Amino acid sequence: MKSRKILITSALPYANANIHLGHMFEHIQTDIWARFQRLRGHECYYVCADDAHGTPIMLSAQKNGITPQQLIDRVYQEHTRDFAGFNISYDNYYTTHSDENREFSEYIYLAARNNGHIDKRTIRQAYDEQAQMFLPDRFIKGECPRCGAPDQYGDNCEVCGATYAPTDLKNAVSVVSGTKPIEKETEHYFFKLGNFEAFLRDFLQSGAVQKEIANKQMEWFESDQGLSDWDVSRDAPYWGFKIPDTEDKYFYVWLDAPIGYLASFKNYCTRSGLNFDEFWKVGSEAEVYHFIGKDIAYFHTLFWPALLKSANFRTPTAVFCHGFVTVNGAKMSKSRGTFIQAESYLRHLNPEYLRYYFASKLGNSVDDIDLNLDDFQQRVNSDLVGKVVNIASRCAGFINKRFDNRLTATLPNPALYQEFAAASESIAEAFEQRRYSQAIREIMALADKANQYVDEQKPWALAKDETKLAEVQAICTQGLNLYRAIITYLKPVLPQLAAESEAFLNAGALRWASVQEPLLGTSINTFKPLMTRVEQAAVDAMIEDNKQALAAAQASPVTQSKHLTDDPISAPIQYEDFAKLDFRVAKIVKAAAVEGADKLVQLTLDLGGETRNVFAGIKSAYHPADLEGRLTVMVANLAPRKMRFGVSEGMVLAAGPGGKDIFVLTPDAGAEPGMRVK
Ligand code: MSP
Ligand code: ZN
Repeated sequence: MKSRKILITSALPYANANIHLGHMFEHIQTDIWARFQRLRGHECYYVCADDAHGTPIMLSAQKNGITPQQLIDRVYQEHTRDFAGFNISYDNYYTTHSDENREFSEYIYLAARNNGHIDKRTIRQAYDEQAQMFLPDRFIKGECPRCGAPDQYGDNCEVCGATYAPTDLKNAVSVVSGTKPIEKETEHYFFKLGNFEAFLRDFLQSGAVQKEIANKQMEWFESDQGLSDWDVSRDAPYWGFKIPDTEDKYFYVWLDAPIGYLASFKNYCTRSGLNFDEFWKVGSEAEVYHFIGKDIAYFHTLFWPALLKSANFRTPTAVFCHGFVTVNGAKMSKSRGTFIQAESYLRHLNPEYLRYYFASKLGNSVDDIDLNLDDFQQRVNSDLVGKVVNIASRCAGFINKRFDNRLTATLPNPALYQEFAAASESIAEAFEQRRYSQAIREIMALADKANQYVDEQKPWALAKDETKLAEVQAICTQGLNLYRAIITYLKPVLPQLAAESEAFLNAGALRWASVQEPLLGTSINTFKPLMTRVEQAAVDAMIEDNKQALAAAQASPVTQSKHLTDDPISAPIQYEDFAKLDFRVAKIVKAAAVEGADKLVQLTLDLGGETRNVFAGIKSAYHPADLEGRLTVMVANLAPRKMRFGVSEGMVLAAGPGGKDIFVLTPDAGAEPGMRVK
């Protein structure tokens, strides 16, 4: 087999949020592939980095009274700690805030400019005069121009689904200072993506991108405007790299983020003496793969290949998109504690459980994957503890205690062993195609066979008869060889279990090809239990712990900064402003869907004698029928407001990050409709 040169990446996590199991889904699948390729004898490198630039990081640092550098340094420590906890085998984990990245970003930008792919245009953008900065869409809030819903972001309305420009919002305010933004002219730099249309069509149809993703991207070509120019500049103040030949323009974070792949690899090459150009020059024989989530396919399958092309680098061999992780059938939720942080998981559970569970569910499509915690527990216990590790524990004791650790010199059932060795290519092909679930199915079928063999041979019964001891030794040698084949195939998924098994088998590191030769006539080491069951108590404790970690993070803005900077706290108000609000407990007597508004529920509220009609944007969290009978807190003295769907007479209060995580109160004897809330 010819040895391949392979470079693999995972998407660069933002340097202002904790690593959670959604990230782990991506890094675990990338790591399995990287480990698999190395095990097969290929030259394979895996690099990643923190994505350390952009407005949210700048504002988050500001809010915490630290510099952006301090913030990203701290997060870097946390990220690398979490990834190490899951045994992710990067050759380099770097940061986009690096000299290498600055150089590549400038180089690629200048190449684009010199080749005529950069345009300068004056645009009008919202500007915060108090904070003296231009405002990204997510940092402006106001009333929806279509339905009038208050408190909507500058890009789309969460209530009626309208999309618009921030300048269309009514009564817009900056979420940075709370003041009304003005519109201001500014010169921006655009990358002319349309110049690459023919190239991108080829790229998308070359098989480098999954069909479903490629088709979706192709829709951009057919839209009225065709491929739009991409705005790659941002005005100062901005946390990032300054654009060459400008005073106050910076690269938009999404320009230098993918370039971070090059920078991380370059940094590794410098340290290890590897030749960078062999991987990145046009016509390179090396293979380059990006593992990413489907939400960022646009950047990776349009902008990124075009940027590379324009600067005369090779383009990726393939971009592998995956779906999203849900937990117990729903989007990961902070309130339910299922927005599971890597750190919380690692405090309670063995990382290999999750590596195995994800592998057992992963195909090469962009389908979402559900982490069902009961299924997780059951699957790991039944497959890994009940089947795989069981084979070793049933055979090793005899070899250790009765035969002075010695394996026999021949196998009693070579044909059965041959079956295990012959499965090698089919399992390898499944891993290669990223059909991990299929590989796992094939491996577990072998585990069943191995257990069946031991069941039938009953070494524990034979061991009672002194004349059958040679047979016992041979059967256990056979069993351990079957185990060894299984562990070799599982090694990309379960590096820790494999390492412990290698130590116990006492014959060096397993490689994919090791299975072709059985292990005979050597001495093994004393068997120690290799893996324990997943206990319900540990899963429960992990969720509980995670809830507390999330709550603590919410209270301490530095670690919670992704959330906070997505939705920064508004400017202070005076006590007199607050005192004007009349909060009352209200009972929801009726709740109905609103035709034409996805997120809106029409509520009839009982205020203890008075009835109010209120529209609330909480349909994503509650089925209207589930709301009836519940209590909520409302602002009772808000002036009625005319919306597209009718007049809203007040506002209900709900807490939570949105989506499904919005809380109203369950009926509780302690509260009565009309009661004042202090
Ligand atoms: N910083 C950008 C990526 C730049 S790559 C040049 C970014 N960061 S992220 O932290 O928001 O996401 C990193 C990766 O995690 C993305 O590929 C994203 O799809 C993935 N996931 C984030 N949440 C996820 C799930 N719940 N499930 C699966 N993957 C998810 O985007
Ligand atoms: Zn609206």
